[in-house]
Amino acid sequence: MADYKTVRGMRDMLPGDAERLRQVENQARTVAKQYGYAEIVTPVVESHELLSAKAGEEVKSRMFVFKDLGGRDVALRPEFTASVARLVATALRNVARPLRLFSVGSVYRYDEPQKGRYREFWQTNYELIGSARPEADAETLLLTDRLMRDTGLKKFAFKVGHVGVLKGVLVAEGFSESVQAAALQLMDKKQYEEAFRLVKSAGSSSKGIDTLRSLVEQRGTEVQTTVARITEIVADYERSVQAARNLEEILNLVLKSGCTTELTVDAGFARGLEYYTGFIFEVYVPDLDIALGGGGRYDKLIELFGGDPTPAVGVAHGVDRIMLALQGQKTEKPQEMENTIMVVPIREKLKSEALRVAEQLRDQGVKVDLEIMGRKMARALEDADKKGFKYVILIGENELKEGSVVVKNLVKREQKTLEIEQVPDQIKDSKKP
Ligand code: HAM
Repeated sequence: MADYKTVRGMRDMLPGDAERLRQVENQARTVAKQYGYAEIVTPVVESHELLSAKAGEEVKSRMFVFKDLGGRDVALRPEFTASVARLVATALRNVARPLRLFSVGSVYRYDEPQKGRYREFWQTNYELIGSARPEADAETLLLTDRLMRDTGLKKFAFKVGHVGVLKGVLVAEGFSESVQAAALQLMDKKQYEEAFRLVKSAGSSSKGIDTLRSLVEQRGTEVQTTVARITEIVADYERSVQAARNLEEILNLVLKSGCTTELTVDAGFARGLEYYTGFIFEVYVPDLDIALGGGGRYDKLIELFGGDPTPAVGVAHGVDRIMLALQGQKTEKPQEMENTIMVVPIREKLKSEALRVAEQLRDQGVKVDLEIMGRKMARALEDADKKGFKYVILIGENELKEGSVVVKNLVKREQKTLEIEQVPDQIKDSKKP
């Protein structure tokens, strides 16, 4: 027999892990509702052309690309934003703005597998379509802040920036879109010297290079003073000054909203994806040097896909990395056994009755784990105790004749005979102390 393993970079999620994944997903879904984002489901497979437009070299080179059996060039989605932009340009074209859309699911990137970096991973994704105003940018950061807190994460911080600051200098230097993108890609990887070399060889003035050099050194947690320093450095570059003002306005809104999470303004911050046009941010925890989430404004993507010119801003969070960070901070929420009971037929021939009672209890909203191993009662009770159940329902012939069952409390070591309808009330406190 072949010794089958998962494909490199792919993982199984066993019980426990899968449960935590879904827990974070559900918390993200709740946040989506709190902020008015409607959930949509888009395909895992999309056209290669759609997914690579403005994705940036890094993501483009790491896509799972293949021809389907019909000879179409397709790829597994490396993110959600392209699919959402496609929808906004087509099926949702005439829907009133603003549009707030939420997605969650697996995405695929052929990254080098290591801690927190997988080839299949999960994202929760929020896109706010149709507003160019700073309130919209602030909202994506604030909902991220709330999600991080709701998952139980204690220590996390934001890195914030604005691609317009660096771009303003590159545009004034007369560089093409492709040179601008290449320089920002290098800066995203912190390869600043390579970036300066590139712009120099592309014909940048020394003033341009000096400005970029001073810019990438500017970072600080004092929002006002850091932005003021940045504005001073780019004083001769009108578009960069406007970008810095926009960044300041967004961050002021965030601070005024009562957000107390640390914000580090970083003028040399760029993101790998090429479609960003404005505010960008990422969220980090101190013990991991990889981002738990990232996003920003992308005002040109929807028109690139044939839609009307539409401003948009969004964010995606890496669910796997959030789970990793929670493990690191030991703040995982305990698994809940609330309202779950075990149903055990006391004799083999009562199994159909046990099934019926289990269904009846489920109809009444009780989560039921049915004994299906044909075990003797003592063994089944031992198992229930080990798994942390507080109540076991015993199905016996005599009680059933009266429409009753025996409810056994494993903690207090006592039991009562109750009518089936009374069981849900009785086991309301089924969480073990
Ligand atoms: P991104 O920064 O490429 O942005 O990915 C978002 C998050 O996905 C990252 O912060 C990280 O937590 C997680 N992630 C990325 N690569 C991996 C990996 N190989 N393994 C595990 N987790 C990973 C986007 O995807 C944009 N679409 C966000 C956005 C939405 N911008 C505007 N709207």
